[in-house]
Amino acid sequence: MLKSIILAAGKGTRMKSETPKVLHEIFNKALLGYVIEAVNNTKLADENFIIVGHQAEKVTDYVNKNFENAKTILQSPQLGTGHAVSMALPYLDKFDGEVIILCGDTPLVTSETIKEFVDYHRKNSADVTVMSALFDNPANYGRIVRNSDNTLNSIVEEKDASEEIKKINEINAGIYCLNWTKVKTAFGELKSDNAQGEYYLTDIIKWAVSKSLKACAYVLKDNTEIYGINSKENLAVAAKILNQKVVKKHLVNGVTVIDPDNTWISPETEIEADTIIYPFTYIEGKNKIGKNCKIGPMAHIRGDVVLEDNVKIGNFVEVKKTTIKSHTNACHLTYLGDSEIGSNVNVGAGTITANYNPLTKEKSKTIIKDNVKIGSNSVIVAPVTIEEGANIGALSVITKSIPQWALAITRAPLKVVENWVKKKV
Ligand code: UD1
Ligand code: CA
Repeated sequence: MLKSIILAAGKGTRMKSETPKVLHEIFNKALLGYVIEAVNNTKLADENFIIVGHQAEKVTDYVNKNFENAKTILQSPQLGTGHAVSMALPYLDKFDGEVIILCGDTPLVTSETIKEFVDYHRKNSADVTVMSALFDNPANYGRIVRNSDNTLNSIVEEKDASEEIKKINEINAGIYCLNWTKVKTAFGELKSDNAQGEYYLTDIIKWAVSKSLKACAYVLKDNTEIYGINSKENLAVAAKILNQKVVKKHLVNGVTVIDPDNTWISPETEIEADTIIYPFTYIEGKNKIGKNCKIGPMAHIRGDVVLEDNVKIGNFVEVKKTTIKSHTNACHLTYLGDSEIGSNVNVGAGTITANYNPLTKEKSKTIIKDNVKIGSNSVIVAPVTIEEGANIGALSVITKSIPQWALAITRAPLKVVENWVKKKV
């Protein structure tokens, strides 16, 4: 099993935020979470070391709450990427496998690419492999310098580069795989005699070459995977790239997405073929949507939602933590939360499941069985069960369970006063 080291100690000044950079979110998931999950999904690594520094407490808290196999290590002060990795030395003293190193601010890297990268490292019997990419505009990245026989020579940072080296368009993507035992001694020998006065992780290439170790570069196929987040603008672009990939996957799988540019679908959402997603729909979290469903326009699916086949979720309908069986419709202006809803149910316009008690801060469950019909503008106050086939009159407030096939109605009686208007004028 290999180990990962994920660098996340940097300041992220350009985010202009009180939130640490790596805790900024795309689809409610922290950037760092994407990287740790990508590593975990390779099933290659059994332990992740996260190097934290700036706002270390918040990042540590996040890691501890969300990942059992990740451990944070404090780097203070932050003296560069090489120095950051050296913080893990005491924890990997006896480790004799491979270590992969990634950055916490590149959330789009996929587990497939990480797997291919490690595979490449192994097939080449390399001691150190760096991920590179070919960029039309390589500015600001470290450049991969190769010898005339194409073997690796070194990585040179933009700030240390000559005009000649600046012309190289193969850049360092910032992901590495090391045979730990052979390369770990490099971290005691790195120097900070460079333009930034930092201990550069990139110098391990030059170091490996000087020790006659085998250094290789794996060229990334999809450059968007190493898109790094340094600003809110980058964050918005990364979210867009991720969403485009997700939407495309669903289109390929036979889902109809009417307007890919104005539809958001989280990566953890599964959707079966022939479902139609109308514009301005926002789907976040983990969801399972069956076939032949119609979602939107302007629907909000908030996570932990399961929709069986032929379900309709219409405009201005918000659904959270809810299971809905087949052929049920909630077509307009509705909130369904913490609910279990049967099949062939009609949820009238403006129906609200009142699941939250703000006094006790408790959330309760609503159960609506098969064939129930709920009249418009009804409020179902949880916890409550509406048994099979019951009918709820429009404008009702349901505060207790309703037996099967009953009519429940709380509406004030309609009063008609004949000629009332004429008498007034
Ligand atoms: C780094 C590489 C560069 C590469 C680029 C890819 C070095 C010296 N340069 O440059 O070759 O093209 O990434 O994106 O490695 N960090 C720490 N502790 C530190 C310094 C940094 O944890 O002391 C973390 C940062 O939080 C960040 C990552 O390391 O996640 C990269 O650091 P950053 O300063 O962004 O390096 P770059 O200048 O982008
Ligand atoms: Ca960077």
